[in-house]
Amino acid sequence: MTERAGGGVPVVCIDGPSGSGKGTLARRVAEELGFYLLDSGALYRLTALAAVRRGVDLDDEAAVAEVAATMQPRFEPTGDGWTRTWLDGDHVTREIRAEEVGMNASRVAALPAVREALLALQRGFRQPPGLVADGRDMGSVVFPDAQLKIFLTASAEERARRRYKQLNDKGIGANLAALLNDIEARDEQDAQRAASPMVPADDAIVIDSTSLAIEEVTQQVLARARDCLQAE
Ligand code: DC
Repeated sequence: MTERAGGGVPVVCIDGPSGSGKGTLARRVAEELGFYLLDSGALYRLTALAAVRRGVDLDDEAAVAEVAATMQPRFEPTGDGWTRTWLDGDHVTREIRAEEVGMNASRVAALPAVREALLALQRGFRQPPGLVADGRDMGSVVFPDAQLKIFLTASAEERARRRYKQLNDKGIGANLAALLNDIEARDEQDAQRAASPMVPADDAIVIDSTSLAIEEVTQQVLARARDCLQAE
């Protein structure tokens, strides 16, 4: 085995835009492999929420980076694959999923000092027996030496439909056209930013999930993960 940052602890990266199904995929793959799970988007959401709560201007890069470095996030596995999320002692699992927090997260994620402040925190999740890391730049920036890098995509229309269904299932009213608009605006913001734009790593495997069931994608990724881990 080659020597790696992280002491050779295996990492499976799952990057892609929101609504591609990467959150579900990452959770299932982590569960099957018995690995830890990093939801890096939650860290950007927590940073945005903490900044708003502290009355910090979201365009003030140094102040938001200070929030990222000093906030106290806590992820508590519920034992059934889900996670309860805490910020500075408050339970915020639901709150950080709001559309507005997502938009604010996308804004603070464009600030290089914020990304830098969250880097060590993210790398700290790399613990034996292994990690599944879900995000936008897991394979390209945070874990460039990962054993397996997946980039999951789906058309914007399909992602809006999935989000619509997800919200409806939770009893939250939504407008499909508005969701599609939000998704396209967020994609644009995430892909065009100068700091770690959302692009597949050179060595990532790109999977388009537009017409695939999440179970199919999960089985494909698990097969690849087991191959890579055996080859170590
Ligand atoms: O995956 P998500 O929707 O929870 O992510 C929220 C925002 O955080 C998203 O707009 C982009 C940003 N993000 C990022 O820039 N880098 C990551 N590794 C994860 C998320």
